[in-house]
Amino acid sequence: MGAVLITGGAGFVGLNVAEALLARGEEVVIFGREPLPEAAACAFAALPGRLAVLERDVREEAALRAAFAAHAVDRVLPFAAITAGPERESAEPEAVLDVNVKGVVATLRAARDSGGVRRVLLPSSSAVYGESAYTHPVLDEARTPCVPASLYGVTKYAVERLGLRLAALWGLDAVAARIGAAFGPWERDSGVRDTLSPFHALMQAALMGRQAVLPPAPLPSYDWVYARDLAAGLLKLLDAELPPHRVVNLASGLDWAPHVPALCEALAARFPGFRWRHAAPGEAPTIRLNDSRPRGVLATARAAAFGWQARHTPEAAMADYASWAAAWLR
Ligand SMILES: NC(=O)c1ccc[n+]([C@@H]2O[C@H](COP(=O)([O-])OP(=O)(O)OC[C@H]3O[C@@H](n4cnc5c(N)ncnc54)[C@H](O)[C@@H]3O)[C@@H](O)[C@H]2O)c1
Repeated sequence: MGAVLITGGAGFVGLNVAEALLARGEEVVIFGREPLPEAAACAFAALPGRLAVLERDVREEAALRAAFAAHAVDRVLPFAAITAGPERESAEPEAVLDVNVKGVVATLRAARDSGGVRRVLLPSSSAVYGESAYTHPVLDEARTPCVPASLYGVTKYAVERLGLRLAALWGLDAVAARIGAAFGPWERDSGVRDTLSPFHALMQAALMGRQAVLPPAPLPSYDWVYARDLAAGLLKLLDAELPPHRVVNLASGLDWAPHVPALCEALAARFPGFRWRHAAPGEAPTIRLNDSRPRGVLATARAAAFGWQARHTPEAAMADYASWAAAWLR
């Protein structure tokens, strides 16, 4: 078995995938612009797999080629990306395109030229559904129109389509994961992801024993996926010998909004000093949601055909996240 190369691997999702691969004894190469967080270096050192960290930029083709050559890479996740909010997409559209689209093309070309890659896992996103998320109760890979609105969503749709096309032309075997909104261990500000999850903000407030003020009830419907479940799903897509689909949603398929009060209560029971409430009309919340409009949930049948479904209930996910945060963030 060769190594798995993850570009952007020191980011939130990459670290979860790296951890899951290392836990099963694999060789992992993290290729990205930021260093490995200290806590991750410490946690990963206890795992049976082998880890190499290359602090490089995906826009450096020579560095990509060298990474493939040095590590006998046979699977690749070109996950480096800029998750731009409105200000950044307006100020730096070229950078978003360069990293999110050209960076993937460069990684695929290096993978092709290395001659040893047997699976590419393309990082698409639920953002590809765009406006459809507000008009379709269930976001289905085959039937729901993709009308991405944000530049980020547009680049993710481009990655999916051009990634599958180039893989076909270049003799690579690719699967695109439409990753749902994730939260959990290793989530932090990478400097290029402009909106972190409200669960990250709640955890910070809980660890500091502060009060969290959520937007007024009821919260809009939103489908979350726990990072550890997501990592398990990505491994299923990486491992599938005969993928039943080439484009797959990875999400819980559940509206988490009705669970949020119970999740906050569980945090309050665990972290002394943490309190929470909904904002009064006109009051500014301290916890920002990713979207103020209710969204459809993601269809899960294709992921199930790969043998994956989110394992954690919202309550179990928050309990696991709280244990992780207490161990690693205190
Ligand atoms: N987090 C989510 O909820 C979510 C949802 C859907 C899709 N995704 C996808 O998952 C992937 C990882 O996202 P994330 O949430 O971990 O974001 P993140 O910002 O935590 O991680 C991205 C990583 O890419 C690195 N990077 C950025 N530009 C780079 C460059 N030019 N060269 C090398 N490295 C560079 C960053 O330093 C960072 O480590 C992305 O492709 C993203 O589109 C994430």
